[in-house]
Order: sequence, then structure tokens, then C-alpha cells
Amino acid sequence: MTAIRVRDLTKVYGEVRAVDGVDLDVADGEFVGVLGPNGAGKTTLLEVVEGLRRPDSGTVEVLGEQVWPRNAAVLPRIGVQLQASAFFERLTAREQIRTFAALYDVSPARADDWLERVGLGEKAASRVEDLSGGQAQRLSIACALVHDPDLVFLDEPTAALDPQARRNLWDLLRGIHEAGRTVVLTTHYMDEAEVLCQRVAVMDAGQILRVGTPADLIRDLGAPARNLEDVFLHLTGREYRA
Ligand SMILES: Nc1ncnc2c1ncn2[C@@H]1O[C@H](COP(=O)(O)OP(=O)(O)O)[C@@H](O)[C@H]1O
Ligand SMILES: [Mg+2]
Repeated sequence: MTAIRVRDLTKVYGEVRAVDGVDLDVADGEFVGVLGPNGAGKTTLLEVVEGLRRPDSGTVEVLGEQVWPRNAAVLPRIGVQLQASAFFERLTAREQIRTFAALYDVSPARADDWLERVGLGEKAASRVEDLSGGQAQRLSIACALVHDPDLVFLDEPTAALDPQARRNLWDLLRGIHEAGRTVVLTTHYMDEAEVLCQRVAVMDAGQILRVGTPADLIRDLGAPARNLEDVFLHLTGREYRA
């Protein structure tokens, strides 16, 4: 089955075509990355697909359903981690995730399990303000997963983390995928897209320029291309600068 089907999607802000005629298919169980520099339109694309923003034109189907207007049949089946994670203030990690769980009618015990699964068991009594960047990201991912969705969206989950914390998160994301979920993430890190994602959609200036496995994207360009940076240079004529 198809988890996501996007056709000719456009979202305009004033003069800016943030998403400009995008087609994208994601199969059930796939791990897909949307890769592009700042301002490419990754967040806008995700937010429209998640049903958080109204498209100007085009169609979006998620798990076989329309997402706009707000569709109660989809919401319990998707997990959404926004780029700017907003936590409830002054709660502990445990209170934070239990609050999310309650919104979905999930028991506190299952919420606590998720803290353990993302390696935050020992931080359960810490306030979210006192978590490190990597711990806060893991908490926000756990909150997005607490209702056990089939399909998970993560917007730049590893941005601004140190290399070790990024690698820890990569392991966590691989585990989430191996458990059978469809994962869609955005990233501006080429290496992350290359090592983590089964398929990568290269996005720039609102458009998806190419979609494929990292190996295919590199191979299709022929001999000079060695990595996704070369692919980006070839597709846009510009050096990649996140
Ligand atoms: N709410 C908004 N109002 C106006 N312009 C926006 C808004 N959100 C994003 N944009 C613009 O749309 C373009 C794409 O932004 P965004 O989707 O955030 O890209 P990315 O996530 O790839 O950095 C940028 O030019 C950005 O300035
Ligand atoms: Mg963004």
C-alpha cells in the first residue's frame, strides 16, 4: 500500500513558492528523506502532508485518506515531530510524555515505556529545560510515537546536535523503522540522508529535483559523482551549502 501520495502540490507564501509542483510517493514501511538546504521548502511540504497547512493546489493522500480539512481518521495513525519542538513548560520528562499520552488515551505505563525505549528512563524526573539537546530531541520523538503511529514525520530531528548525539539518534530512528513503521524525515545533512534513508528526495527552491536511493542518485550522474553533494551540484549548478 501507499503511505503517502502527493501530486502537483503547491504552497505559496506571498511571492514565495515554498512548495512548487511537488510529486512524491512513499510506500508502506519505507524510510524516506527529504534533503535540501535551508529554505528549500522541506518544512512547508511536511506540514501540508501532515494536514497542518492547507495546500494552494494539488492533492495529498496519507494512508489512503485526504488530510485537509483536518481528518480525524488520519491523526491517530500519524506521529508528527515539528522542527521547533515545543514542550509544556516546567514539566518533567515523565509528565511531558504522559501528557501527550493522555491526549491519545494511552496509559501512563505505556508512556513511561517510551521514555525507557529512547534511553531517557534516568531522566524521567528531570525538567525538560534541563535536558541536553539530544535528550530533548529523543523526548520529542518519544512524544510523537507514544500512540504507536504507523507513519512518523520528523522535521530535522538531528539539527544542532553534536556528532555523537546525532549517531545515537540515527540508531533510534533505525530501530523505529525496523519495528515496521514508515518514516519520513527532513534533513539538511547529506551524510545523514545517505546513511539513513532508503530513498532520498532532493529538494531545492520548492521543487523535488530527483528521488531515488542514494546509490542510484549518485550512479545515475555518471563517473564524476561520488556523493550526494556532487548530485546536488549537478542538479542545481550550485555547491551545496546547508
Ligand atoms: N509561514 C511562512 N510565511 C511566509 N514565508 C514562509 C513561511 N514559512 C516558510 N516560508 C518561506 O518558504 C520557504 C520555504 O521555507 P521552509 O519550508 O521552512 O524551508 P526549509 O524547511 O527547507 O528550510 C522559505 O523561503 C521561507 O522563508
Ligand atoms: Mg525546515
